[in-house]
Amino acid sequence: MPKKALITGITGQDGSYLAELLLEKGYEVHGIIRRASTFNTDRIDHLYRDPHVNGSKLHLHYGDLADGSRITKLLYELKPDEIYNLGAQSHVRVSFDSPEYTGDVTGLSTVRLLEAIREAGLTQDVRYYQASSSEMFGKVQHVPQTEETPFWPRSPYGCAKVFAFWLTVNYREAYNLHASNGILFNHESPRRGETFVTRKITRAATRIKMGLQDKLYLGNLDAQRDWGYAKEYVEVMWLMLQQDKPDDYVCATNETHSVRDFVIETFNLLDLDWEKYVDYDKRYERPSEVDLLIGDPAKLKKQIGWEPKVKFKELVKIMTEADLELAKQEHAYKEATGVNKSF
Ligand code: NAP
Ligand code: GDD
Repeated sequence: MPKKALITGITGQDGSYLAELLLEKGYEVHGIIRRASTFNTDRIDHLYRDPHVNGSKLHLHYGDLADGSRITKLLYELKPDEIYNLGAQSHVRVSFDSPEYTGDVTGLSTVRLLEAIREAGLTQDVRYYQASSSEMFGKVQHVPQTEETPFWPRSPYGCAKVFAFWLTVNYREAYNLHASNGILFNHESPRRGETFVTRKITRAATRIKMGLQDKLYLGNLDAQRDWGYAKEYVEVMWLMLQQDKPDDYVCATNETHSVRDFVIETFNLLDLDWEKYVDYDKRYERPSEVDLLIGDPAKLKKQIGWEPKVKFKELVKIMTEADLELAKQEHAYKEATGVNKSF
């Protein structure tokens, strides 16, 4: 019998890479998707549409993390061996506009899932992964940040993630649930949402290169982040659930770079002078900012034997090359039809 995994947030960046990884490993993969008025499964269509890919072991179920009874019913029906809770309102800036909603979906829905595990009688059988975040370190109390660094969240999103983190620890301690937190630092890829800063930069710079866009508007260029590669990081999620004992781990590259560094690296790759194209827009500033993130993944290396291979320069190259390809397609389409169509 193949192992059965349930992924919340399967349509997101990480969910799509994790689904690929688990299918490759022979898992039967179930994902919760939200009903939308347009298609929202672009990132997993290649896994779902072709019944010959990976033996068609991907199953999608409509649901919403705000809907506790639906989650409980799904757990009763599916009885998964592993649950990866990746679903969230994951945008930090948006969490200032919608703090209550973010608290509900990013924070409280963790209780819904953990209680559903108990309700469905899976506490002793299932393994649970919680997508925790370096955003919890916020106003950082130590540099670099480790599993011992106290949290000081700086956004409603960060506060919701702290709540979810401690609930995961609490269910591990109270009910002996195999529940683990991956404290993942920022991780990016060609599948990154286009409103996160890295993808916004690579998308805009490549479109500028192809004459499809004139300017890139950004907020704080001084913020520093520890950026890794999402495709690699999802392996850590899986590895954490293969350990005999549940635990919490920082996953990071142990390098930090500013948003400005990311801009310069991207525009240099394209032989463009960034200062001609990048302008400031205060709308992208946050009411309270996380200035510096850099994670020390020593525990992950020591206990699980994993370390990242892709670092900053290679990550920027991977993303820029992928977006240049999209910009070329967009340019060719426009030349042929006179119509602007985003690829
Ligand atoms: P993402 O691309 O924004 O994906 C978020 C996923 O959550 C999407 O599938 C989204 O569905 C789903 N979702 C949102 N609201 C939902 C709801 N009410 N009910 C059900 N599903 C809902 O995020 P990501 O970058 O893959 O990150 C995955 C997880 O890791 C998130 O929990 C994020 O907070 C956390 N994290 C991310 C990073 C990072 O740097 N990427 C770092 C640390 C932690 P739709 O497609 O329908 O919107
Ligand atoms: N999004 C965005 N857009 N950010 C900008 C912009 C802009 O135009 N201009 C400057 N920034 C700065 C932000 O102020 C922030 O300091 C930094 O770029 C990174 O912003 P994001 O890419 O939006 O990521 P984040 O660090 O706030 O949050 C991401 O990483 C967290 C892990 O630390 C998200 O993926 C979270 O879900 C994740 O938990």
